[in-house]
Parts: sequence; structure tokens; C-alpha cells
Amino acid sequence: MKKETKTIIITGASSGIGRETAFKLAKEGHKVFAGVRKKIDKDELEKLNPNITAVYIDVTNPSSIDKAFWFIIKKADKIDVLINNAGIAVAGAVEFLPIKKIKEQFDVNTFGALQVAQKFMPFLKNGLIINISSMASYGIFPFIAPYCASKRAMDILFNSLLIENKDNIKVVSVKPESIKTPIWNKSVNSAKKTFDLLNEASKNKYKKEFSYLEKNALKNNNSAKEISEVAELIIKIINSKNPKCSYNLGKTALFAQIISLLPDFIVNYFIKLKLSKI
Ligand SMILES: NC(=O)c1ccc[n+]([C@@H]2O[C@H](COP(=O)([O-])OP(=O)(O)OC[C@H]3O[C@@H](n4cnc5c(N)ncnc54)[C@H](OP(=O)(O)O)[C@@H]3O)[C@@H](O)[C@H]2O)c1
Repeated sequence: MKKETKTIIITGASSGIGRETAFKLAKEGHKVFAGVRKKIDKDELEKLNPNITAVYIDVTNPSSIDKAFWFIIKKADKIDVLINNAGIAVAGAVEFLPIKKIKEQFDVNTFGALQVAQKFMPFLKNGLIINISSMASYGIFPFIAPYCASKRAMDILFNSLLIENKDNIKVVSVKPESIKTPIWNKSVNSAKKTFDLLNEASKNKYKKEFSYLEKNALKNNNSAKEISEVAELIIKIINSKNPKCSYNLGKTALFAQIISLLPDFIVNYFIKLKLSKI
């Protein structure tokens, strides 16, 4: 039996999970509108498969979302799936992180995703929104608290959207453990810039933790899962008649969920113990 061809929008398709997912969905025959921010990414993506149309979307810029909206609805009568994938990871010690950086984190991962969803919802009736959240949404990871909080906030807002909306729009949160993508290098580079601006006393306070964060990000990236695993899970969700509200990807994500169910003082005790040994 011939598979149904769907119209799918995915944000943040220039690299990592977004690029791989756009490619795999297009290969399955779906019509994919892939969000990018640079001409070079547009050209490269469109070369991958004729089913991909790259669209400029900066999720923090309402006028770019508006332009993308008109561009897409002129080309498609309906939208079946919106994948909120665009994301950044702001890392560092909460004590010294500039509020501007924390706002930037929420602007992309939380408000950006919601802004795109609100714009496209009138065309998503009976459709599906898939959010690329993270196991960080379980909130137990120090020194990437802005990232954890942004994903948790996204999950809470979109879960309400699922309950409240009257257009039968399903909402699914995908929570992967570490995946091999450029996000962690970008995050460390940005955290390093912020760290370098601190005075010596502040630097000394968190020097050990910063160097652990740096090493851990690189180590995580080497041992992380492949992007294809996320893309395959997304395809499974799209093909499922009744997808669940939330999917963990990987044993570490499941472990993070279980740990997050324990009382805070127990979780904090063990995390502090681990940090004291770095
Ligand atoms: N890698 C992991 O371990 C992991 C685990 C769990 C969840 N995730 C989530 O997976 C998603 C994809 O990340 P990734 O790991 O594949 O990293 P990535 O390769 O760095 O991809 C991030 C994507 O987001 C885009 N982006 C950033 N800011 C944007 C903005 N303001 N507007 C539109 N697009 C923007 C980037 O575009 P530019 O190239 O233009 O900057 C890029 O295409 C993120 O939401 C991330 O939180 C990742």
C-alpha cells in the first residue's frame, strides 16, 4: 500500500538532528519545508533531495516567521506536521550568567518554538507538533540550567497546548540523551566567551567546574548517540496513529526521568557529591 505523503515543517535544519531528519523525511517521499538562516544552508539542503524546500526562519524573529508562513501556505494547502527542532544550549554557572544569555536561551528554545507553533496552528488542524525537547527537561543537570529550564518550560507550555487546543492537534515531546551534533561545541565556545569576561575572583570560583564542563561536553559528544536514531524515532512518531505525549531516547534519558522523580534533597545530595569529586 502506498504511504501517505505529508507536508512537514522543521526548524533548525542547517545541521545536526534537523538536517538529518529533513533528509530522511524527504527520502520517505514527504514534502519538507526546512528552516534555515543562511543562504549556503538553503542551497546545500535543497541539493540533498527535491522534496526539500528550504525556508528562512529565525525563530526569534516574528517577521521572519511571518514571511515563512506566507511562503509555505502559498505552496501547501495544509500542514500535517510541525517539528520544533531549532535550539541552542547556554551553559555556565547560574551565579555569573548574564541574564541576557539566559533570555537568549528561552527566546530560541521556548518562545521561538511557541511563536512558530502559534503562527501555524490554524493550518495544523488534526495535525501533529513534535518538539525536540531533551532529557535536560528533567532538570537534574547543573551548569546547563538555562538549557534544562528552557526545555522544561517548552514541555509545560506545549503540554497545555495539547490539552487546551480544540483542533485535535497532537503534541509530542521527544527527549533524547546526548546526540553527536555540533550543539555541544557551540555551547562550550559560547560559555568560554562568557567565562573569559569574568573577573579573576569569579573565574577562580568556578574554574574547576568550567574545565569539567568543557571536557564533559567533548566526552559526551564522542560517546553520544547518532543523529539517525533521533530521525528514525521522529519518523516512527509521524507514522504512528496514536503517538504518546513524550518519548525518551536512550537509557540515560530514562534514567534521568527516574532520578527526577526522587525527592530534591536526595537528587541534590548525589549531584553535589559527584561535583565534589571532579
Ligand atoms: N545534540 C544533543 O545532544 C541533543 C540532545 C537532546 C536534544 N537536542 C535538541 O535537538 C535540537 C537540534 O540540535 P542539534 O543537537 O541538532 O544541534 P545543532 O546541529 O547545533 O542544530 C541546531 C539548529 O538550530 C538552529 N538555530 C539556532 N538558533 C536558531 C534561531 N534563532 N532560529 C532558527 N534556527 C536556529 C541552528 O541553525 P544555525 O546553523 O543557523 O545556527 C541549527 O540548525 C535542539 O533543540 C537541541 O536542544 C540535542
